[in-house]
Amino acid sequence: MSADRVAIVTGASRGIGAAVARELSAQGLSLVLTARSRAELDALAAQLPRPALAIDADLSEPAAAARIVEATLAHYGRLDAVVNNAGATPRGDFLKFSDADWDAGFALKFFGAVRLCRAAWPALVVSGGGAIVNIAGIGGRTGNAEFAIGGSVNAALLNLTKALADRGVGDGVRVNAVNPSSIATERTQVRIDAIARERDLDPAQAAHELARKLGVARFGEPAEIARVVAFLVSDAASYMQGAIVDVDGGQTRTL
Ligand SMILES: NC(=O)c1ccc[n+]([C@@H]2O[C@H](COP(=O)([O-])OP(=O)(O)OC[C@H]3O[C@@H](n4cnc5c(N)ncnc54)[C@H](OP(=O)(O)O)[C@@H]3O)[C@@H](O)[C@H]2O)c1
Repeated sequence: MSADRVAIVTGASRGIGAAVARELSAQGLSLVLTARSRAELDALAAQLPRPALAIDADLSEPAAAARIVEATLAHYGRLDAVVNNAGATPRGDFLKFSDADWDAGFALKFFGAVRLCRAAWPALVVSGGGAIVNIAGIGGRTGNAEFAIGGSVNAALLNLTKALADRGVGDGVRVNAVNPSSIATERTQVRIDAIARERDLDPAQAAHELARKLGVARFGEPAEIARVVAFLVSDAASYMQGAIVDVDGGQTRTL
């Protein structure tokens, strides 16, 4: 049995997930890091101050979530928190997306989270202070023509957050969500590079143009999401249940 609290972080190989792993490890949690890229997970695990077990898995595969939870319990003997972060929904023209594109978007980010929550739930109840944080995205609140799949997936994940928070009231598991936007990760760099190509701009000009279009002063850093996630996992957020927290530099201007 591990003395530390134990958290699973999905999509931990880079971007927001890697930043969440760094922050939770610095806060004293032992971790399970999961994504498909084993080499990146091993490299991150080696840098962290607390124990970290790397498990490579494709979370869009139905059996992956249960396997990750089994390995976690076999290794640490407990599980206290899950951060559902893995996601890779494409942007594009609604009329050009196929059924396969929609299936892939939901298979990873939504059903991956559904299955991991279901597999982890009994251990989170036993923990006595179990917590789930779902990393959704502001597209779940505000529709956007270019982001039909991602927005729909995020909206579904936000509703799942509320449904599991309701269950968690009785079971003693806190379930909350964070909506990032405009975070400086590879996903955002892909958008900046596309603008640079389309408009014949250099990367700095294209980044400035995208920030201006989104109505934010700058892009956020992954660590700025990670600190909020660590707060929601911690006892400091002990009365937060079903909260949806926008961490978006002010991009969402509606209630
Ligand atoms: N960046 C933003 O501005 C932003 C805004 C709103 C919402 N979000 C959300 O925040 C989350 C993280 O975003 P990010 O920008 O950090 O993304 P990212 O840099 O593209 O990283 C995505 C992570 O998900 C993992 N992943 C992808 N496909 C997977 C699969 N089939 N099975 C398991 N893991 C898989 C990737 O690892 P492998 O490739 O190694 O599998 C990687 O660790 C996503 O859910 C995203 O929708 C981000």
